[in-house]
Amino acid sequence: MKITNICCIGAGYVGGPTMAVIAQKCPHIKVTVVDLNEQRIAKWNDADVENIPVYEPGLSNIVAQSRGKNLFFSTEVDKAIEEAQLIFISVNTPTKTYGSGKGMAADLKYIELCARQIARVSKDNKIVVEKSTLPVRTAEAIKNILDHTGNGVQFQILSNPEFLAEGTAVDDLLNPDRVLIGGDTTPEGQNAIQSLVEVYSNWVPKERILTTNIWSSELSKLTANAFLAQRVSSINALSELCEKTGADVSEVAKAIGMDSRIGSKFLKASVGFGGSCFQKDILNLVYISKSFGLHEVADYWEQVIIMNDHQKRRFAKNIIKTLYNTVSGKKIAFLGWSFKKDTNDTRESAAIYVADDLISEQANIAVFDPKVEEKQILNDLNTLESRTDEKNAKGIQTYNNAYEACSNAHAIAVLTEWDEFKTYDWQKIYDGMLKPAFVFDGRNLLDKNKLEKIGFVYQAIGS
Ligand code: UDX
Ligand code: ADP
Repeated sequence: MKITNICCIGAGYVGGPTMAVIAQKCPHIKVTVVDLNEQRIAKWNDADVENIPVYEPGLSNIVAQSRGKNLFFSTEVDKAIEEAQLIFISVNTPTKTYGSGKGMAADLKYIELCARQIARVSKDNKIVVEKSTLPVRTAEAIKNILDHTGNGVQFQILSNPEFLAEGTAVDDLLNPDRVLIGGDTTPEGQNAIQSLVEVYSNWVPKERILTTNIWSSELSKLTANAFLAQRVSSINALSELCEKTGADVSEVAKAIGMDSRIGSKFLKASVGFGGSCFQKDILNLVYISKSFGLHEVADYWEQVIIMNDHQKRRFAKNIIKTLYNTVSGKKIAFLGWSFKKDTNDTRESAAIYVADDLISEQANIAVFDPKVEEKQILNDLNTLESRTDEKNAKGIQTYNNAYEACSNAHAIAVLTEWDEFKTYDWQKIYDGMLKPAFVFDGRNLLDKNKLEKIGFVYQAIGS
């Protein structure tokens, strides 16, 4: 089938950028991104393209090029489904917060709702593509719903997991290492795969488009994220040992990364990984393994999460210990709140958990992040079981300027590796702080020698 009309359900961090790039690279295809969230869609349609709800370097440019031509953002979900030949499901699949599998399994209620909606609305054959990360065998559930509640039309289900990383989404989409498409081995399944291969072939070299059976595709996504997160937890585990032994984790990372079998990427010790994928996907892997009775497999991967939780708590504990075992009433400035640089996404950001621990010790947290709004920060804390609006209002304050956030602070904690932090006038920051002025660098971002020369007491992870 030659695709000329695509619908994407879910206008979030995955759906928005992915569809913007497809629209730019395939001017002959009409791409409509739909979402139930009216506010979000209104932001995607904002006359000032800088106001789109997802911050990603280069994204506003790409949206500006296609929006209103072949790229549309809408809340008319039924209409877009009906008109499309190919439907991407790109809705959120958070970890369940209730019932069986609570805290581990993926909550598939949004996916199921989508499937039911597609089944109800469709009047002709459609290809349905799983874009969200899903537990293995979700495609089967979607297929069941579509086949049993539909209007007798044919559905082909494909798995096409997203490998973009936030902060570099546009680049990752334009030059992917690979595009993975899983589908049925039947002739109809293979035809559906080919239709999607053709879409990507508009800009991705054929040898980078990998086709597999559907289960391999689903499991590959979980596995890729588990391997990446495992590297971060591995280096973070060693960062603690480095602190005890006098080794420097950056030097260790460099030394092992030069072994071509190991490779140099994803070896940066940090206050802990965050983001919407790593923890969720590993918990998912753990849950699936347990459900098949594979307890050793489950325990093996769960350790990656245990290490990550330890790293976040350890960072907060170290701040408290260093500040003479009390942070009560002390101002601690947070540079950064997003889970990594160049994104306004804060899901599972280490900053949330470090703030939680410090607020419990009655510290006053002063946050500055170049892209995250105050509303989001309060919202992040309020989703923690330990917090309520009232308590947070006391423990946390947001600033739109780093110098003000640091003024009269006892300590600074670097939680995100935003480039601009490196360019600050650190002498000026030092002059405005209470002494001794501490910097706890959770990203090994700043220049230790320069800061110590000014007079800061500087501590980085793993050295
Ligand atoms: C990840 C995968 O990289 C991507 O392929 C998948 O599609 C979604 O999940 P993302 O979560 O957006 O992407 O960002 P990523 O760059 O992987 O970083 C995840 C977390 O690990 C961040 O908090 C980051 O700061 C941390 N990290 C990463 C480290 O602490 N050290 C590193 O060396 C690398
Ligand atoms: P991701 O990082 O996976 O893109 P987001 O939470 O940023 O996740 O985006 C998912 C989007 O999907 C949200 O904007 C949410 O409103 C939307 N969504 C969830 N369920 C539905 C649905 N049934 N129909 C339309 N949109 C949906």
